Amino acid sequence: MVVIRTVDQLTKTLDSLREQGKTIGLVPTMGALHKGHISLVNRARADNDIVVTSVFVNPTQFNNPNDLATYPRTEDADIALLEAANCDIAFVPTVEQIYPEPDNRVFNLGPVAEVMEGAMRPGHFNGVAQIVSKLFTYTKPHRAYFGEKDFQQIAVIRQMAKLENFNLNIISCPIIREDDGLAISSRNVRLSPQMRKIAPNIARILKESINFALSHSVEQTIDFVTTSINAFDGMEVEYYQIVDSHTLMPVTSFNDSDHVVGCITVYCGDVRLIDNIAYKR
Ligand code: PAF
Repeated sequence: MVVIRTVDQLTKTLDSLREQGKTIGLVPTMGALHKGHISLVNRARADNDIVVTSVFVNPTQFNNPNDLATYPRTEDADIALLEAANCDIAFVPTVEQIYPEPDNRVFNLGPVAEVMEGAMRPGHFNGVAQIVSKLFTYTKPHRAYFGEKDFQQIAVIRQMAKLENFNLNIISCPIIREDDGLAISSRNVRLSPQMRKIAPNIARILKESINFALSHSVEQTIDFVTTSINAFDGMEVEYYQIVDSHTLMPVTSFNDSDHVVGCITVYCGDVRLIDNIAYKR
């Protein structure tokens, strides 16, 4: 595996590989790699000749400076994990490489970027669109891989790619979970031992809600999930929304759409976790 730190070297290397007819798979990450990221690399490895993984903590998507300052940075371990996963290129740029000058682009991402995380974290998705559009421009991948834990992010990136006319396949990959069901996230290491013990109840209750929903309304299901999770000391649901998984607009009945997903954000102590569950695929 080669570690590339400049945009210039990345574009030159990939231009030459593309000319040789190689297909390129891109896995964008912010580092602090875990089994979830590696599952994306494995999928990209299976689908493409060349796998590029970017490791870059993107400042423009953080609306909370403290969150940016405390975001885990584990470059050496990340590079070792990528090497072991048979990645071809680790792209590990500095902030100056990516943003030699401020990126003032405002993407007109529409409703998919305004609900849920978009409402809670103003500017977050515009920052995601900025960095992902830059990565797509530099790598011109045939395919790019994103985890379904960040369900809304995938919809936003699809919208950005459509707006910007990127010609690639955006591939969503299933959530990877710990044995006890907790969705794997870089934030899990920040959970206190007590919170780590109770956090898997989020996934358990979401799963139980599938059965509950068979004989209850959307409103009752939202109430069931929220009340059951809030019953645990230290856990607080920020939002639970049941939405059409394509438009991300709330549904009022499970019959409103053929694709229905529930998206949740829960504070476990001071750690904000997200997860989701499909009611109808
Ligand atoms: O999901 C992430 O880790 C980030 O939002 C992404 C897509 C790598 C952009 O910085």
